[in-house]
Amino acid sequence: MIIDVLELGKSCTNTDKSLRRLNLVSKAKQAHFDNLCDWYTHLLKKSPTGSIRIHVLRNIVTADPENVQHILKSRFENYPKGKPFSVLLGDLLGQGIFNVDGDSWTFQRKMASLELGSVSIRMHAFGIVESEIRSRLIPLLSSASGNQRVLDLQDVFRRFSFDNICKFSFGFDPGCLEFSLPVSEFAEAFDLASKLSAQRGLAASSLIWKAKRVLNLGSEKELKQAITMVDEFAQRMINQRREMGFSDKHDLLSRFMRTIDDDKYLRDIVVSFILAGRDTVASGLTSFFWLLSQHPKVESTIREELERVVPSCDDRPFVTFDQMREMHYLHAAVCESLRLFPPVQFDSKFAQDDDVLPDCTFVRKGTRVTYHPYAMGRMERVWGSNCLEFNPERWLKNGRYMPENPYKYPVFQAGLRVCLGKEMALAEMKCVVLAIVSRFNIRVADPNRKPIFAPGLTATVRGGLPIFVQERGA
Ligand code: HEM
Repeated sequence: MIIDVLELGKSCTNTDKSLRRLNLVSKAKQAHFDNLCDWYTHLLKKSPTGSIRIHVLRNIVTADPENVQHILKSRFENYPKGKPFSVLLGDLLGQGIFNVDGDSWTFQRKMASLELGSVSIRMHAFGIVESEIRSRLIPLLSSASGNQRVLDLQDVFRRFSFDNICKFSFGFDPGCLEFSLPVSEFAEAFDLASKLSAQRGLAASSLIWKAKRVLNLGSEKELKQAITMVDEFAQRMINQRREMGFSDKHDLLSRFMRTIDDDKYLRDIVVSFILAGRDTVASGLTSFFWLLSQHPKVESTIREELERVVPSCDDRPFVTFDQMREMHYLHAAVCESLRLFPPVQFDSKFAQDDDVLPDCTFVRKGTRVTYHPYAMGRMERVWGSNCLEFNPERWLKNGRYMPENPYKYPVFQAGLRVCLGKEMALAEMKCVVLAIVSRFNIRVADPNRKPIFAPGLTATVRGGLPIFVQERGA
């Protein structure tokens, strides 16, 4: 059975513009929910099947793991990303892996899987993250320690992950986390381009932004300027590689340049990686430290585990890859935090042909089908009666981490198009967590404020995460 959202129309304070324009929640003054994703969660919980149909948006939203498996694996070919999505991000992402289906996707996926699966690139990524932590993150936090200076931890993580993903993708260091927290023109252009591309999806009709694009007006003019800056930057990087050689370089661009010589295609591939890997990691870390501030026991257990695996050593925050693999509790805590606060809260596909989902929902050709990791993390029928608790132990059996069914936990998507940076992202997050909890105590400035998310491609907390930091033992 499918619940019709029009009938349920409950209130929501932070709903997105498109829903407002459609008048779905215009009566929403009683303010039940702070976040749109909480409203969806509420509706999905009420549905006996765990799926809802939003007629006005031609959208089916599901939180049922069997449906998710069907969309992402069993009938993968019937659920591409589809044109409606690729058109919105097309000017920024071009033909990059994130934005294409079919043969172009298959080709890039194979090539990127080979590159990202290699031990050498993982060690390279690990080295980049360690150096950014050592030379920038720790000195910055130390400088703020004890002096009542409020730091926005979300901003720190966004800078941190932008430096890392640029070094990894282009071999270029934008230095966003330098001590003075400088403005990086490239980071700003990239942020603006992703924000304005995503906002195209909020227009009542695509004709509006398309007309503005033809006439080069308003937000479309700004978007064009921002994309031009991204293009120029990427071209400079490619030219530098051609002049200085790329055969011995480890960054992704150099690796791809060994097989591809079309500059536009190279630019598109690398820009997709920056989009995929930047805000997601920063979002995951921000929620993690918010949750940790509410659960000091989890923090002390992470510290105990670190001391057990790496007994007294001056360089303790910096563990080896193998030592990190022994930290089952840390891994469980990071997975648990992503379960409750997935950086990609929902993700949509478009049905190519009529279909029926495993819960018997009929899907008409062209319908948007959305799976909702944020809601799934809050469903009793998926995670049990303690689903709302931040409980790393749920991932452990006899102290060892046990992976879950990926369709019950599609935080990194799942199936044929599962995130290519999953292992790297988890390693990066764990390195940061160890570096911070072993050296610092973090106090959230307003512990009672729950995260309220701004609309966008990735979950970003409105107002950031203001914290005070204190060096341990100081
Ligand atoms: C906590 C961090 C991360 C999360 C939660 C995450 C999640 C996801 C999700 C949900 C998708 C599917 C999106 C879609 O198809 O619309 C995805 C795809 C992808 N991710 Fe990640 N990601 C993370 C970090 C990274 C990093 C660090 C990289 C790169 C180094 C990366 C590279 C990719 C790529 C290339 C794809 C496209 C795969 C394809 O279409 O075949 N991700 N990721």
